[in-house]
Amino acid sequence: MKPDLSVDLCGIRMKNPIVTNSGTCGNGPELSRFYSLDVLGAFTVKSVTLDKRLGNPNPRIAECASGILNSIGIPSQGVRHFIQEDLPFLRQCPVPVIVSIAGNFIDDYPKIAAILDREEGISAMEVNISCPNLEMGGCSFGADPQAAGQIVRLVKSKTRLPVIAKLTPNVSDITLTARSVEHHGADAISLINTLAGMAIDVETRKPRLGNVVGGLSGPAIKPVAIKMVWDVYRTVRIPIIGMGGVMTWEDAIEFILAGATAVGVGTALFRDPCVVFEMIDGIQSYMEKKGIGRLEEIRGRVKLSRPA
Ligand SMILES: Cc1cc2nc3c(=O)[nH]c(=O)nc-3n(C[C@H](O)[C@H](O)[C@H](O)COP(=O)(O)O)c2cc1C
Repeated sequence: MKPDLSVDLCGIRMKNPIVTNSGTCGNGPELSRFYSLDVLGAFTVKSVTLDKRLGNPNPRIAECASGILNSIGIPSQGVRHFIQEDLPFLRQCPVPVIVSIAGNFIDDYPKIAAILDREEGISAMEVNISCPNLEMGGCSFGADPQAAGQIVRLVKSKTRLPVIAKLTPNVSDITLTARSVEHHGADAISLINTLAGMAIDVETRKPRLGNVVGGLSGPAIKPVAIKMVWDVYRTVRIPIIGMGGVMTWEDAIEFILAGATAVGVGTALFRDPCVVFEMIDGIQSYMEKKGIGRLEEIRGRVKLSRPA
């Protein structure tokens, strides 16, 4: 019998576990130049802010060993522009659409959620709490479990859509944030966002990013992401989107074995936007070879020689 790749992520029916990572493939038209988005399990848009925001100075990307460092800084045309210009295209796509939202202040989040809640064609909101909290001197909301939970609670109060809390790995214990967002009503968790990093050009002695510091993504961060997914999987009951350095189908299976329900692909799309085809085929072949009917049979089933 053909394996069933579909997964249910807090009520979102995905035909396979592959979802795009916010900010890595635009808002739809960019990726659909290569293929129809309905190949994917779900599509996540770039984080949308309340008002127009410019983002960080150039250069915004620096290539590193096994990854990229970015300091894009969430440039956004604002939520109303997103609704007018981007959402109509996404509504035509037969794929669940996850809208990522980001704010400068805690109050931005419920305001954006209330505006988006009136719109058709959105399957879930992903709350990006990795951005700097301008009220608190710029440290990220996600670094404070209390603030992270508060944002989720406020967003939940303004929308009927499932709310996914996207966690930052730049903390000492990610399970504290995971516990807090679950307690405050998150329907799912996605992790990880980029790891804080910096690179310096030795010729000029200048930072390689205009913003000086940025976030690392790609294969370099995968082992960190796998451990965090595994830690969070054992802490909460809500489903997880695992992401961070997924380049191959084997990486996707690894995240599922660590406890992920769905798997996010980001940096890999810069190298080859079509990599998702190999991933989906590879997952299917693996399931056939191992006699796995549904992915939930292996979710979190890493074999340990001693109890976890
Ligand atoms: C260029 C770039 C832009 C990103 N923009 C966003 C964003 O707008 N919102 C967000 O939540 N995450 C953003 N991310 C983080 C990714 O969604 C993802 O969490 C991270 O890159 C790890 O996955 P990856 O290694 O597969 O890229 C961005 C990452 C990159 C590389």
